[in-house]
Amino acid sequence: MATFTVKPKERINHTLTVPGDKSITHRSVMLLSLSEGNSIISNYLKADDTNRTITAFKNMGVNITEISDDKLLVEGVGIKGLKAPHCAIDAGNSGTTIRLLSGILAGQNFSCEIFGDESLSKRPMKRIIEPLRLMGVEISAKDDQYPPLKIKGNPDLKPIKYTMPVASAQVKSCIIFAGMQAKGETHVIEPAPSRDHTEKMLKYLGAKIDVYENKITIEGPTTLKAKDIHVPGDISSASYFLVAGLLVPNSEIEIKNVGFNKYRIGFLQILSKMGANIQIKNIENVCNETVVDIVASSSELHGLSVDQNLIPSMIDEIPLLVLVATQAKGTTIISGAEELRVKESDRIKTITTELNKMGAKITELTDGFVIEGKTLLHGAEVYSYNDHRVAMTLAIAGLIADGETKINNSECVNISFPGFWEILEKI
Ligand code: S3P
Repeated sequence: MATFTVKPKERINHTLTVPGDKSITHRSVMLLSLSEGNSIISNYLKADDTNRTITAFKNMGVNITEISDDKLLVEGVGIKGLKAPHCAIDAGNSGTTIRLLSGILAGQNFSCEIFGDESLSKRPMKRIIEPLRLMGVEISAKDDQYPPLKIKGNPDLKPIKYTMPVASAQVKSCIIFAGMQAKGETHVIEPAPSRDHTEKMLKYLGAKIDVYENKITIEGPTTLKAKDIHVPGDISSASYFLVAGLLVPNSEIEIKNVGFNKYRIGFLQILSKMGANIQIKNIENVCNETVVDIVASSSELHGLSVDQNLIPSMIDEIPLLVLVATQAKGTTIISGAEELRVKESDRIKTITTELNKMGAKITELTDGFVIEGKTLLHGAEVYSYNDHRVAMTLAIAGLIADGETKINNSECVNISFPGFWEILEKI
């Protein structure tokens, strides 16, 4: 187990790019595997989570070849072309792999098992099991809730109208993926908007999908036409360095070619309300997604009460928002974020415990945090709980703490952001 030591910084001035978007890479591999024809994914994320998805599809008979350092050639087999894998599928730490893949396996004419690591084996799956059963899939799980999942595909899936109890892009995508194989219209109703990469990509590949307010309608069975996809930089990965630019004095950081999906920018919206100097430049549309350059510079911030409606659009950035709030004047309240308890770690508990070790004043709520700022952070030995987003948040905290911060299990950043420590050293 590796430990990384972070030292405080006096100023940062840097322009950089971050690796490709994790959510878009998973979806590109899945949907292009199911497309008719060959296509190339460029700037794909080569990380532990996305490798799980790539390996799963290779094991189901799809030829996926790395043709250069950042390009994959995918030879699509069509929506009915997958083959039963010879062994169970290992989703590792990846919630996106297990939940989205389950929706695809739902309509196949074979049975399959998916399992994961210790963290994934504790994450809730009832949220996908329930709608998939309504569509006619036989699915079993440990305690009817946790991985491993055993899925007996049903090539004759029933379309459903389903109102989701939690706002989750993973659950929404799982149902859409099953719906695109069922004959007729499947309707999914979201309680609050979440990232819509699946909807955008399906439209790009020619599926009949319609979005009206919070209701998505997919007409199946779908044929997908292979088309090249360029993956933008991951806004969640970019956020760590944007926060470094905001919190380290006399700094400016520019990050180029970052995905700017409307339902991924809640964090930037809140930062702006807190007084952050953030500029958005060079807005473009690439393969149906918005891509921009973002500049962040040192800012005087103030606390606030976070609008609960924005929680799904900043779900992965909340640990980082908690860190920002420790450096903002006044009280910040984050509530309605109980989903954080069922992420790669219980992020409400883990980030509170570790930042408080560094001198922060954070109180846990059942569904969020109360943070008193501004506090001086000091270096400490802290734990990542093997959670990539906790590790990276603590690393950025180390840049503004006095003394050294040692982060254990630091290799877990490879889940979503290989190269994170190298960039941190460079800046
Ligand atoms: C993801 C959706 C989010 C997010 C995860 C990736 C996706 O999960 O936390 O990192 O790619 O759909 P939920 O939709 O379950 O909140």
